[in-house]
Amino acid sequence: MELQPQVLISEAEIAQRINELGKQISNDYRQKKLTIICILKGAIVFIADLLRKIDLDIDLQFIHTASYYDKTYSSGEVKFVNEFFTEIEGKDILIVDDILDSGLTLYQIREKILSMNPSSLRICVLLNKQSRRIKDVEADYVGFNIPNEFVVGYGMDYNGRYRGLSHISIIKR
Ligand code: IMP
Ligand code: MG
Repeated sequence: MELQPQVLISEAEIAQRINELGKQISNDYRQKKLTIICILKGAIVFIADLLRKIDLDIDLQFIHTASYYDKTYSSGEVKFVNEFFTEIEGKDILIVDDILDSGLTLYQIREKILSMNPSSLRICVLLNKQSRRIKDVEADYVGFNIPNEFVVGYGMDYNGRYRGLSHISIIKR
């Protein structure tokens, strides 16, 4: 796998879009107490930036999942490595993840949270690969729609590499 030299989404483009998402989320939850559940590890850079653009007090929580990836394709099995949250019942929950790809991960997380009776549940993802969807799950807030390519950077990795890039690039065989 080789990192493509072209930038798919630049640092400036990401920053501008996160500004917009932050404003939208702030407006939508103005009268509420928002609880964000961030999916580790890929969404850490996104949540760090998004949090600073949301003009509300937020209860920030985490779930650590791992999909068993066969190179760049999800096996469909999602493992809950750790859960760092409590008290979902009656809360307004926003799940924040890096990419909505096949939907297998967010489908299982959504089912799990819904079983705990939140008052509301929405999903926010930085990237959406619509053409790869297997499970019926859509995000309420989407940063960018991207083609069916494996991407890295801005928190997203390939085999543990490239998470620290400030922009998003494609990695190819
Ligand atoms: P899904 O279960 O297939 O929707 O995949 C969800 C998870 O797989 C995402 O939260 C990412 O962590 C990871 N993933 C999917 N596509 C990519 C990619 O292009 N680059 C890096 N990670 C990815
Ligand atoms: Mg992930």
